[in-house]
Amino acid sequence: MEAAEKEEISVEDEAVDKNIFKDCSKISFYRRQKQYLSKKSTYQALLDSITTSEVSTKFKIINEATKVPLLAEVYGLEGNIFRLKINEEAPLKPRYEVPDVVTSKPGTVRLISCSGDAGNLVLADGKGDLKCHITANPFKVDLVSEEEVVISINSLGQLYFEHLQIPHKQRTVKENKEDASIDTSQENQEDLGLWEEKCGNFVDVKANGPTSIGLDFSLHGFEHLYGIPQHAESHQLKNTGDGDAYRLYNLDVYGYKIHDKMGIYGSIPYLLAHKLGRTIGIFWLNASETLVEINTEPAVEYTQTQMGPVAAKQKVRSQTHVHWMSESGIIDVFLLTGPTPSDIFKQYSHLTGTQAMPPLFSLGYHQCRWNYEDEQDVKAVDAGFDEHDIPYDVMWLDIEHTEGKRYFTWDKKRFPNPKRMQELLRSKKRKLVVISDPHIKVDPDYSVYAKAKEQGFFVRKREGGDFEGVCWPGLSSYLDFTNPKVREWYSSLFAFPVYQGSTDILFIWNDMNEPSVFRGPEQTMQKNAIHHGNWEHRELHNIYGFYQQMATAEGLIKRSKGKERPFVLTRSFFAGSQKYGAVWTGDNTAEWSYLKISIPMLLTLSITGISFCGADVGGFIGNPETELLVRWYQAGAYQPFFRGHATMNTKRREPWLFGEENTRLICEAIRERYALLPYWYYLFYHAHVASQPVMRPLWIEFPDELETFGIEDEYMLGSALLVHPVTEPKVTMVDVFLPGSNEVWYDSKTFAHWEGGCTVKIPVALDTIPVFQRGGSVVPMKTTVGKSTGWMANSPYGLRVAVSTKGSAVGELYLDDGHSFQYLHQKQFLHRKFSFCSSVLINSSADQRGHYPSKCVVEEILVLGLRKEPSSVTIHSSDGKDQAVAFTYCARISTLSLKKLSLNIGSDWEVHIK
Ligand code: GLC
Repeated sequence: MEAAEKEEISVEDEAVDKNIFKDCSKISFYRRQKQYLSKKSTYQALLDSITTSEVSTKFKIINEATKVPLLAEVYGLEGNIFRLKINEEAPLKPRYEVPDVVTSKPGTVRLISCSGDAGNLVLADGKGDLKCHITANPFKVDLVSEEEVVISINSLGQLYFEHLQIPHKQRTVKENKEDASIDTSQENQEDLGLWEEKCGNFVDVKANGPTSIGLDFSLHGFEHLYGIPQHAESHQLKNTGDGDAYRLYNLDVYGYKIHDKMGIYGSIPYLLAHKLGRTIGIFWLNASETLVEINTEPAVEYTQTQMGPVAAKQKVRSQTHVHWMSESGIIDVFLLTGPTPSDIFKQYSHLTGTQAMPPLFSLGYHQCRWNYEDEQDVKAVDAGFDEHDIPYDVMWLDIEHTEGKRYFTWDKKRFPNPKRMQELLRSKKRKLVVISDPHIKVDPDYSVYAKAKEQGFFVRKREGGDFEGVCWPGLSSYLDFTNPKVREWYSSLFAFPVYQGSTDILFIWNDMNEPSVFRGPEQTMQKNAIHHGNWEHRELHNIYGFYQQMATAEGLIKRSKGKERPFVLTRSFFAGSQKYGAVWTGDNTAEWSYLKISIPMLLTLSITGISFCGADVGGFIGNPETELLVRWYQAGAYQPFFRGHATMNTKRREPWLFGEENTRLICEAIRERYALLPYWYYLFYHAHVASQPVMRPLWIEFPDELETFGIEDEYMLGSALLVHPVTEPKVTMVDVFLPGSNEVWYDSKTFAHWEGGCTVKIPVALDTIPVFQRGGSVVPMKTTVGKSTGWMANSPYGLRVAVSTKGSAVGELYLDDGHSFQYLHQKQFLHRKFSFCSSVLINSSADQRGHYPSKCVVEEILVLGLRKEPSSVTIHSSDGKDQAVAFTYCARISTLSLKKLSLNIGSDWEVHIK
């Protein structure tokens, strides 16, 4: 073994002591804000200082105790969005404002001040249905829609702003009067972490003293809150007790604890609230460590007796207080006012972008393991899939494929001919994904290191010199992806001539990008490491991984000269990461409880923009019992990103290693995924162009049904399929809630149907995946499943028409080459619409702009819920010809089946049932 290799970190080193992570009691800005706010100081808005420009309205706010002015700015944005920014009026130096996340223009709707005096001010958008009432003293903002207060800001007086201060040593010379609000006496200093804060053996020195900010929001009439991933927690946010805030701080937490509010790999500081009739969102644009407290006051009804002889009933609406606190930066918050869930998704994507359109292959099944040992191993695993007739699309290689964890290289003994290996995969229309982490081995002979070092592309230490920390390769430096030049350079490393051994079927996995620094404070980077522009790591910690994925996606696009869609999986993420690819939930454990929590975790990611998400199938850590593995495949087949993965010291678990019957069950689950690919692809297109999540909590589809607001053991895929994965062992029956009193639901296997608005008991065997199609939908499918998505490109379609209580159904299909940007630039796509009404099924164009020559045909049509046996079925084609076709009708389950059809998918035609 070479000396360099000895330095590498073994898997045993990796197990993390969970006590290294902080809870609120150890977070100094939390303690400071709590201590200070208990003294209840108030802020006052100086409304005579108002200035209005084309884009915003500005005024000063002053703290009664310190008299230091803050500057507030209110903006109106397209689509009923308000933005409030609060910064120091004259900070010692600029405070960090998160760049590159919000892609929309700053102030597009001019706010008009419509009334007000010295005590208050009303701003309205042109249409006048949304108003912003600003009360001067104490400072408060109410957002009013249709005369109803929806959100109040600072009504609890928790506005908090720590001003940058002159560094410690200089303070003795020049006494700073500006922080009279905070007790800086010696004994309190360490405790409150004002200038220094300890974390294990690390001391975080704060150059300009404490810089935290905070603000409260009262959501009137709301008790159901969601969002702020990532936590291994329920979908619906819980009330936070003392010291139990939701933490947003990207950390590498191996085998994270479930039902815990600690921060794990990624952060999206965006929260949604829903009540009957309205959905709203609060997007807190801050990339430093953030805490969120939630406190719901339920509705109360009481009787007033002092009103005279007739007692009057009074109802006090429920409300929820949300308290955001961040370690630094500015207050920059967007209020999204809905009113519908669909509006909220559009508003949020207007700010941060939509889900990137994935290449089709990435919606297939991915086979990963740490590690597939060598080329032989890859070949054997690949052959195993074919032998067992199991479709799969992507083989993955983890860190061991490299020369000593030097990314962009290959271990020459294990992978002597990477191109040959990729050609084998290519011959089956399959792909390869390899890992590329942000830490770069300190090794002057490693060209990536040497070049980055030479150009000053690494994050620096506070004291000067490159930051060095330990990760998989041993001592490493970390690329500073916040620097656009570094991103440009990094993206150039993916060019085919530069990345030796890579081909156009190779895609990328970004891991450890929280960033993970072994033995660092909380297993990450010191907060006072220095980034491009002299920003401290503390300011932008949560956005580091976002930037790596951005640079990687750009690299993959660039290597194809702008032609091909990238695929990049990332572990760490921030608001807007959806623009760059997929996210997974990190190092979960092979236990039933982790399978169960994957559903709420993915639902939360989905409604905060990240449609392309998944959890390691089987559980990364440990060995799943066979039943768990089977159930996990069944669940994963119906989750957006579908990858089996396992850590190093686990037993091999390729799908065929668990006996014939279990192989069949796993194979069946994967084949179901492949049969539904046309529907998945359409859902991703819809997410991409219309911002609607692929995987949806029930409350999104049924926003008027209270019963759905807390459901997290089942969900919708698009608006047509309801999935209730089995997440417990030895289950023979599951209770499935089928929403909607006017709905009808069809079992996707047996076609049995139920009316909506009730819970039904569904018997389950080991081969049952409870999936239901909603009446009123048409789901496009593939009738035959092949080796991979590419293999199936021209295979025929089937349409499953599920008739609603009113006798109708609609659905869509989206089709393109599956890999390039031609759909965008040349409009090379087909977008078809299927509508079933008065016993006629019509295939028509949903978007006339698109054209794509497809030879694909619809081979089968199944109509569920057809009450009467037809006497004839005729195809009416666009050339005016009618043709009678054979059919079978099953009266017992009211199902009409048409087979052996040959109807071109891209032409207009009608099926008349008489
Ligand atoms: C991290 C990742 C895991 C990967 C391992 C080795 O633990 O979360 O998926 O296999 O690192 O690269």
